[in-house]
Amino acid sequence: MAKAKTVHACTECGGAAPKWQGQCPHCGAWNTLVESVATPAPTRFQSVAGGRSPVRPLSSIVARESPRVPSGLDEFDRVLGGGLVPGGVILLGGDPGIGKSTLLLQAGAALGAAHKVLYVTGEESVEQIALRADRLGLVNAPIELLAEVQLEAIVAAIGAAQPEIVVVDSIQTVYTESLTSAPGSVSQVRECAAQLTRLAKQRGIVVVFVGHVTKEGAIAGPRVLEHIVDTVLYFEGDPHSAFRLVRAIKNRFGAANELGVFAMTERGLKGVSNPSALFLSHHAEPVPGTAIVATLEGSRPLLVEIQALVDPVAGASPRRLAVGLDPQRLALLLAVLHRHGGVEVAGYDVFVNAVGGVRIDEPAADLAVMLAIDSSFKNRALPPKLLVFGEVGLAGEIRPVQRGQERIREAVKLGFRTVLCPAANRPKHAIEGVEVVPVDRIDQAIAWVRGR
Ligand code: TYD
Ligand code: MG
Repeated sequence: MAKAKTVHACTECGGAAPKWQGQCPHCGAWNTLVESVATPAPTRFQSVAGGRSPVRPLSSIVARESPRVPSGLDEFDRVLGGGLVPGGVILLGGDPGIGKSTLLLQAGAALGAAHKVLYVTGEESVEQIALRADRLGLVNAPIELLAEVQLEAIVAAIGAAQPEIVVVDSIQTVYTESLTSAPGSVSQVRECAAQLTRLAKQRGIVVVFVGHVTKEGAIAGPRVLEHIVDTVLYFEGDPHSAFRLVRAIKNRFGAANELGVFAMTERGLKGVSNPSALFLSHHAEPVPGTAIVATLEGSRPLLVEIQALVDPVAGASPRRLAVGLDPQRLALLLAVLHRHGGVEVAGYDVFVNAVGGVRIDEPAADLAVMLAIDSSFKNRALPPKLLVFGEVGLAGEIRPVQRGQERIREAVKLGFRTVLCPAANRPKHAIEGVEVVPVDRIDQAIAWVRGR
C-alpha cells in the first residue's frame, strides 16, 4: 500500500506546510506544526460539520437546544429569537449610514463584559471606531479591534485571539489571496463568507457580517450570502425619521419576520419596547383619509396609521403611489373597491402611505387601505378610535387574518373603542372595553363607515 502523503498542519490556524518548521507560515505561531495526513480532497469544500460524517438513524441523534447568549440589547435579542447562538452566523444588511456599525458596537460592548469580542473593521480606522465609541459613551468597552481586510490575516487573528464573538464590518471589504478578483466581487464575498462560516461552525464562534445593500440591487451585496448564513437581518427605516427597524428575513434559530424597533438618538440606538404608538400620527380631531390597522410583525402586533389622498387627476393619466405598501396590491385593491365597493377613482390620483417609514407586507392591511381611500374620496373622517384589519379578496369578500384576538387586545390597550374586522375573526367571548363590528364584504364595511 502506498504511504499516505503527510503534511505539517498548524494547530492554531489549521494551515499546512509541506515540511516541519518552527514557525507556521500562515499565522506566524511558533511550535504549532504537527505532522498529519494530507486530506486528499482540498479543504475548500466541506460540509459545515467539517470532515466526513457517518450515516446515522435520526432516532439516534439527541437534539440539543442551543444555549443563547443575550446581546444585552433587548430589541436585538428579540429579532435574533432570544440572543446569539454559539457557532451561529448572522448577516446584518442595510443601506449605508442606517446604523449597522452603531448597533454592533453597542452590542459588542455589552457582550464584551462576559465574552471575548473581536471587531474587525475594513471600512473605518480603529480611530474612527474609537470616536464612535466616545460618542456612545463606550470608550472603555472591553472589546478588541482589528483593522484588516485580508481573510488569511483575519483567520490568523481569530486563531490567535480566540474570540467568542467576531464582527466583520463589512464583508464586502474582505478579500482572500487565493482569488484574483477584486474585493467586493461576488466570488470574493462568497468565498470569504464561506470560509469564515466554516470557522464559526468548527470553533463555535458567533460571526456577524455587516453587508451593504446598494441601490443598484446589490450585485455583490448581501443577497449572495443569504443561503450561507444562519440568520439574515435587515436594517430599514426612513432616513428622515429617527426610527430604525431590524427585521429577521431568515432565522435558523428562531422565528423569521421578527422585528426589533430602535430609535437613533444622539447617543446611539435605543430599543423601543412598546412601538405601537410610534406609527400613529396624533391628530387632535379625526381627519379624512386615515385609518389605523393592527399588523403583526413577528411576535407582536403593531398599530400603524395608513394615510390616503385621493385628488382629481393632475397630469395626463391618474397616478397611483404607495409608500410602505405594495404598489401592485394597491392597484388590485382599487379595482376591488370599484367593482365591489362602488367607489370609482378612475379620474383621480391616489396616494397611500404607511406612517413612520414602516413597511407593511401583510394583506391584513387591505381593509384599512380601502377605507382610508374611501374616506379621502368622500372627504369624511372614519369614526374616532376605530381600528380596522382584514384581507380583501378579488370577489370583494373579507377574509380572516391570523391572530385576530391579539390585534384586538393591542388596540384596547391603546384606547381604541371599536374594531372593524373579518367576521371569522370575531372573538368568541366579548372583550371588555371594545365593540367588535364583524364584516363579510367590502360593500358592507363601506356602508357601515358611511352610516356612522
Ligand atoms: P453607522 O452605524 O455608521 O451606519 P452604517 O454602519 O450602517 O453605515 O451610523 C451612521 C449614522 O448614525 C450617522 O449618520 C450618524 C448617526 N448616529 C447618531 O445619530 N447617533 C449616534 O450616537 C451615532 C454613533 C451615530
Ligand atoms: Mg458602518
